[in-house]
This record gives sequence, C-alpha cells and structure tokens, in this order.
Amino acid sequence: MSNFREALIELEETYTIVIEWHKEVTSTNDLAKRGIYSHGDIVLAESQTAGRGQRGNRWSSSEGDNLTFSIVLKPNHVVAESQFYISKAIALAIVKTLAAFDIRATIKWPNDIYVGDRKICGTLIENDLMGTNLTKSVAGIGINVNQREFDPALLNPVSMRVVSKRGYNRAQVLEQFLKAVFPLFNLVDNGEFGAIDEEYFANLYRRNGVYRFAEPGGVPFDASIEQVLPSGALVLRKSDGTTKQYLFKEVAFVL
Ligand code: BTN
Repeated sequence: MSNFREALIELEETYTIVIEWHKEVTSTNDLAKRGIYSHGDIVLAESQTAGRGQRGNRWSSSEGDNLTFSIVLKPNHVVAESQFYISKAIALAIVKTLAAFDIRATIKWPNDIYVGDRKICGTLIENDLMGTNLTKSVAGIGINVNQREFDPALLNPVSMRVVSKRGYNRAQVLEQFLKAVFPLFNLVDNGEFGAIDEEYFANLYRRNGVYRFAEPGGVPFDASIEQVLPSGALVLRKSDGTTKQYLFKEVAFVL
C-alpha cells in the first residue's frame, strides 16, 4: 500500500495534478464534485461505502484491490450538446489503458468497458453546465484490477487479474490511464470529434453482426448497430430493415 501511495506522489509530479488518496469515502464522485479541484485532479479511494453506479445501482469493489477514482475535467470549449464526447474520451482512455497491458477491451454502449461478454470497468460521468457550456465533468471510474472473487449478485464481472491470470501494479495502470486520457480530452476540447467518433466506433462492443436487444419491458428483437449519434443515441437496424434511435436506458443488450 505504501508503495502505491509513493507511486501516486510520483504521478502527481509527472502530470502536475493532485491525486487525493483516501482509505474510505462514501463515493469518490461526491468528493470530486466539490469546487476545490483543478483540471486533471483525482480523488481515489481504497473503498467506498456508497459507491454509485449507472441506473441508480451501487458499485461494489473489494478494498485495496482495484482502482476506484474520479477525475475532474474542465473543458474550455465543449458545449452541452457535445457532452457525450467526454464519455467517449473516457471510455477510449480505458480501452487504451487495458491495451497497454495486452488486454483487448471494447466499449459497450454507452460507456461500460467489456472484455468478451464481461464487465471489467464502469464509468459514471457527472457534468456541470453553465448556460450552454460544459464547465466541469467528474468522471468516476471503477477498474477491476486485482479482484479475484465477485458478489454473485453481479451479472458478469471480470478483472484484469481474472482475464490474464496475473496481478497488476495499480499505480502502473493509473499511469497508463493518465497517459491516454489527456490527449483524448484535448481532442474533445479542440472540437476534433471526427477522430474520437472513429476510434469509439472501431472499439464498440458488438459493432459487427446481429445481436439481441430489448426495450424495457418489451419483446427482445434482433438488430445490428448502425451508428452512435453525436448526442450519444444508439441507432439500431432491425431485421425488417428499419432503423430506430435509442437514448441511454431506452434499450439494453441481451447478454
Ligand atoms: C456503472 O457501471 O454502473 C458505473 C460504475 C462507476 C463506479 C465508479 S467507482 C469511482 C466512482 N465513484 C462512484 O461512486 N462511482 C464511480
């Protein structure tokens, strides 16, 4: 643990950011939302008593095994309607992080990170808008690094350790994330969306082929992914040839 904290201090110096380490917090996102942080600063915790996931779910992570942290991003030029690009950049940064350790991951729309059909990382992005501008984004990230066993109630969790049968140095994983995230963020802040769109689509889970989807409470149907719109909406092509746009929570992959 002390090696980990020493390595975090080195990362702070390399990236000129603050990395606030906590043994236990409610949720790193809650702390990171306070107005005291600068662009790139990180709040990291070994355990969260009220870790938050998507759709009002809890995020569970065994103490000291994983990376649970929130990074504060402060765009200068991103408008509200482009806010999904921050999610795309974060998802791509995680795919690149895992690739640096030879783990091939994909992005399950909108921003879960999968290895095969199992979830290795979740992200919870909370944005602050001022008028039509995105002023701050708190990207909460839970990467399953060294966890061996998971809550049986979880659908399909996996960790880097389970995937590759070896342990990882968490500071090195965080370092790869920092290396990846700032250039991707800069592309977004400079409005270079084409590059982000291309990479996001290329790394999308179930990008090719026909798969089963379901609308909440609806009859499952087969469709292929046509595209993801700048708004973040998923466009599916159904077997009858028609297309339909879905916002987050309006459709789910059937696994
Ligand atoms: C999900 O897939 O449901 C999103 C999970 C996000 C978990 C991370 S862990 C660090 C940060 N703090 C939280 O309370 N949640 C995010």
